Amino acid sequence: MDWREEVKRLEKALEELRSRYPAIIPSGELEKIRTEFLGKKGPIKALFDFVKKAPAEERRELGQFANKIKRAFEEWISEKRNLLQEAEEEIPDLSLPAFLPDLGRPHIITQTIEEIVSIFEELGFALATGPEIEQEFYNFSALNIDITHPSRDAFDTFYLDLPADKEKGRYLLRSHTSPMQVRIMEAYEPPFAVVVPGRVYRPDAVDSSHSFMFHQIEGFAVDRGIKFYHLKAVLWEFARRFFDRSVELRFRPHYFPFTEPSAEVDVSCMFCKGKGCSVCKGTGWIEVLGCGMIHPKVLANIPSGSEGLTGIAFGLGVERMCMLRYGIPDIRLFYTGDVRFLRQF
Ligand code: DAH
Repeated sequence: MDWREEVKRLEKALEELRSRYPAIIPSGELEKIRTEFLGKKGPIKALFDFVKKAPAEERRELGQFANKIKRAFEEWISEKRNLLQEAEEEIPDLSLPAFLPDLGRPHIITQTIEEIVSIFEELGFALATGPEIEQEFYNFSALNIDITHPSRDAFDTFYLDLPADKEKGRYLLRSHTSPMQVRIMEAYEPPFAVVVPGRVYRPDAVDSSHSFMFHQIEGFAVDRGIKFYHLKAVLWEFARRFFDRSVELRFRPHYFPFTEPSAEVDVSCMFCKGKGCSVCKGTGWIEVLGCGMIHPKVLANIPSGSEGLTGIAFGLGVERMCMLRYGIPDIRLFYTGDVRFLRQF
């Protein structure tokens, strides 16, 4: 054997391997290459056998060359093995349970609004929304809430630092969604039946059942021949779809400036089925909304005249509905953004 030639041949073979496999080599193929060059029947073993038999004066130099080429092969192979191992560690274990990303969802108040609105849509109501920055005219006077009337206190609100409008008064954050009755009357010719969800503002001290901001849904319908029994039928059907088919309704006479006659509506307590518990304070009934026949002075906002027209109206608090439906004890839970609460819905 011309060992110098043989060493050169092996060096060239290694160069070829390097250029043929610049990146990763499948483990089977790598093992084949290893056996081919470093195995018992391979050229490097043969070279070492040759070293042993070589004359003493040549053995030293020859030994160095053999070791060098052997180490070069070994290093290249272990480099490729490391690459392979790293790659294997990166391969995901497809048998593991899937990681489900949290996609988020609409807030429970939004979900409740959508659900309530869709019930009324099924009953023939159209959907509308209105401005949160309102004017005194729409929030109060057009709804027959006189500037001096004591009931105005209950709806008093936050005023904006803007110059008052000559006709429609000061700007304020609406304290209820009822102003939209008037805006719809101004913009559309009756008959109509509309629901209006939205935020409202009150200067209320915050506690477990009050907030300076909450959500209401106003509903109203104006047509010829609309009667109180239409109001009862609509609210009854709504309550049964939203709470439970077995829920009972009670209409209690009440006063609102914008309706006459007016009523407050109670539902039979869904927690104790009317027997009396802490939620219904032992009465078996829970107040859920206000309603009535639209006051003639409110109907007078219809530009073409209200002759022969009657209307029904109701207003409900979304948070309250939602708290009753899911047994939520504190209104503040809706606003803190705590995902442990929110992701339950
Ligand atoms: N606007 C009233 C409030 O905020 C709720 C209300 C009561 C609305 C009776 C109505 C109604 O349309 O007829 O307390």
